[in-house]
Amino acid sequence: MTLNILLLEDIHASADPVLQALPDARITRLRHAPEGDELRRLLADADLLGVRSRTRLDAAAIAAAPRLRAVGAYCTGTNNIDLEAASERGVAVFNGPFSNTRSVAELVIGHAIHLLRRVPERQAAARRGEWMKDAKRSNEIRGKTLGIVGYGKIGTQTGLLAEAIGMRVVFHDIEARLPLGNAAPMPSLETLLQEADVVTLHVPQTPQTRHLIDAQRLAQMREDAVLINLARGHAVDIDALHAALVEGRLRGAAIDVFPVEPASAAHAFESPLRALDNVILTPHVGGSTVEAQRNLGVEVSEKLRDYLLQGAVRGSVNLPELGVGAVRGAARVVHLHRDRPGVMSRIHAQLAGAGLNVTQLHLETGRGVGVAAVDVSDRPTAETLRALAAVEGTLASFLVMPG
Ligand SMILES: NC(=O)c1ccc[n+]([C@@H]2O[C@H](COP(=O)([O-])OP(=O)(O)OC[C@H]3O[C@@H](n4cnc5c(N)ncnc54)[C@H](O)[C@@H]3O)[C@@H](O)[C@H]2O)c1
Repeated sequence: MTLNILLLEDIHASADPVLQALPDARITRLRHAPEGDELRRLLADADLLGVRSRTRLDAAAIAAAPRLRAVGAYCTGTNNIDLEAASERGVAVFNGPFSNTRSVAELVIGHAIHLLRRVPERQAAARRGEWMKDAKRSNEIRGKTLGIVGYGKIGTQTGLLAEAIGMRVVFHDIEARLPLGNAAPMPSLETLLQEADVVTLHVPQTPQTRHLIDAQRLAQMREDAVLINLARGHAVDIDALHAALVEGRLRGAAIDVFPVEPASAAHAFESPLRALDNVILTPHVGGSTVEAQRNLGVEVSEKLRDYLLQGAVRGSVNLPELGVGAVRGAARVVHLHRDRPGVMSRIHAQLAGAGLNVTQLHLETGRGVGVAAVDVSDRPTAETLRALAAVEGTLASFLVMPG
């Protein structure tokens, strides 16, 4: 049977060779993000779906996709996907959290250099016909202190790049993190703010990171320091930042993410920061590079491929991790079910009843879901597969043949 793969939002062509490794794959590509009836019509016979951040995959859209087995989010965030509804239907969702790490880190370094040299103000003045030629409050970044708030994938990468050009790196994280290079953990956010010439945020969106940088935190920053936020819009109190910049206490800021962002290019971008010369404003493009898109095309497609070809779950956002080896036996049944007592014994009973011996079993549970990859001695009949899919607690099940 044809495996219908629907790729929306102009996903990078690097996805195709990977997905074409799936048997009977037929790839349909669209450049835009369909909505409403158009989306539901397209989903009616899709087995695999690839989206980026604009397609809204809510519970109604998932319900309109009866054949859907997995979704690839060719981006890092998955806020546009109803993950609970996906799990409830046994649809695996994968994203690509590593693909744009380097892109964001590079831009942070560029912003740090521009802000410490007051390039945004000089550029704004030059555009108005003013010649703002002086060395006042202009510094090299060499020897300055970079304060990284959130020392995860992007934070650590940024720290290594900053050290390579001579910055001193300090960081603050709520989790214990291994310091890379010569980076030093700070005992508190307050200490970091008091030490850093450049503060850069790399925290996720959580209730704790809302207005992480507010008026009080801004007041703790060094006079003439700069703030960079390429993480999440809600992490900075924009009105408080505006006030600190107008008062001249901070040298400048670079902001890529906003509490409210325009839904599309057709909508206007509103922010009090627009009026200030000493701010670099970008439209959430921290991770948007050709390289990142290409990496995403491969990274996410490989996860989809390994899931469908082997039942391996690597880096899913709604299923537990399941490492599997090669199929040992005639076939593998991949079975997704509610994490409740008795489901596995009912699966075993069905297999035993059909005279199938289990030759290898992988099982992992988490996020309320169990994923089992059960290798069996003979190929199950269509009737056995129907019986397995009907086992109480089943979310989805499918068959994998040895490659
Ligand atoms: N601008 C863009 O285009 C763009 C692109 C990619 C990622 N991002 C954003 O960048 C952020 C970081 O991404 P990542 O891949 O490095 O994430 P990550 O999960 O690898 O790292 C986040 C780190 O922040 C830490 N953290 C969480 N809450 C904290 C708190 N209250 N105080 C201090 N540290 C805290 C975590 O422990 C973790 O170490 C995310 O918000 C992501 O959405 C933006």
